[in-house]
Amino acid sequence: MVGNHKLWGGRFEASLEKWVEEFGASISFDQKMAEQDITGSLAHVTMLGEKGIIAKEEAEQIKSGLEELLIDYKNGQLTFDVTNEDIHMNIEALLTAKIGPVAGKLHTARSRNDQVATDMHLYLKMKLDEVLAKLKNLRQVLVDLADKHVETIMPGYTHLQHAQPISFGHHLMAYYSMFTRDAERFEFNVKHTDLSPLGAAALAGTTFPIDRERTAQLMGFAKPYSNSLDAVSDRDFILEFLANSSILMMHMSRLCEEVINWCSHEYQFVTLSDTFSTGSSIMPQKKNPDMAELIRGKSGRVYGNLIGLLTVMKSLPLAYNKDLQEDKEGMFDTVETITVSLDILAGMLSSMTVNDKRMAESTEKDFSNATELADYLATKGLPFREAHEIVGKLVLECTKAGHYLQDVPLARYQEISDLIEEDIYVALQSKTAVERRNSLGGTGFEQVRWQIEMAKKEF
Ligand code: ARG
Repeated sequence: MVGNHKLWGGRFEASLEKWVEEFGASISFDQKMAEQDITGSLAHVTMLGEKGIIAKEEAEQIKSGLEELLIDYKNGQLTFDVTNEDIHMNIEALLTAKIGPVAGKLHTARSRNDQVATDMHLYLKMKLDEVLAKLKNLRQVLVDLADKHVETIMPGYTHLQHAQPISFGHHLMAYYSMFTRDAERFEFNVKHTDLSPLGAAALAGTTFPIDRERTAQLMGFAKPYSNSLDAVSDRDFILEFLANSSILMMHMSRLCEEVINWCSHEYQFVTLSDTFSTGSSIMPQKKNPDMAELIRGKSGRVYGNLIGLLTVMKSLPLAYNKDLQEDKEGMFDTVETITVSLDILAGMLSSMTVNDKRMAESTEKDFSNATELADYLATKGLPFREAHEIVGKLVLECTKAGHYLQDVPLARYQEISDLIEEDIYVALQSKTAVERRNSLGGTGFEQVRWQIEMAKKEF
């Protein structure tokens, strides 16, 4: 074929073959940014008109054309074409079809390089708001649940072995703290996303007297990037998002793993609502925590998206390279994965039943009160190391006899140490053990209530 009808076709004598063209195109996925692309163009053309770079009437014509396209897009009436490669050239082609050759003036003092970067910033900034709102909802669910379960006793674990009894509210507030730091990380991410690359043009800026602060302001960005090369090459605002999302997924996967354990037959600490569980096609009795497992599993793709983009970016010379087109799918996928996961987790937690009796009972037939006995002796003056040794021996004796510390008769206790009195049995109760751990940030009820009060002030 002679000639090339692409928007960039001037210096070409032949066209791309169809399959090569498809390899280079991004329209199948970057059409997600159609709205952002039009928003960016509206800001650009407004500024071009204001600065007299193009005539006022031309700017107005282009603006109304873009506004109509936005309406068409929202009504699902725009169709994109792979021969126009990406969203930027598709929108320009649609605009030309609507208003004629004057559409060609829109691209004055602009390149697809600053345009695509602008679209990505607009898109992620909007999505970060959504992520923060959903994270806030999840944190609220955790605080509400913790508030109901300050005095619900459960086994605290180390090495997945019963360690010391704790408050279930305390356990939930640990996750609240993690998700609060996640939110802080995303807030910081907003700061790096709230910058306008528009006007950096291809890489070096432009000779036209553009006003970058004006376009930044029109699009709602805090300010323009101050280096044009950086503006078109930077993708670390996306990397930061993927890294923050990976940490968030890791936190969610830990909580999901615990929920999966808690609803197993061995634990029976919680019962998930039917609306968040699934059955088995062969085993009629099954009620599976599929949603929690899926969130746990989806951590994999989010980590993958982070490693994928880090690898794309590694060693990439300045400024724009087509490699950068690979920045999008992982970001879109991560946005979708984390937003739905946050909703599912919040819904699953707020609708589950906590079997508080069963949780508490599971701390009564174990040795998770061994530290209480050691602390009891240490409080009465015995060096803690000696107390630890004595209690260790007694645990062994109990294990052999098939009973627990609370079953040891007072006479035996007094043979072991004359420091032990009748009040040992109260000290050995799980509730006492939890209630008394009132060091700052401990699981004592007062401390848990304090955490909840502080958390409530954040909403
Ligand atoms: N579709 C391209 C991307 O996503 C837009 C920028 C193209 N720029 C270029 N110089 N080829 O990165």
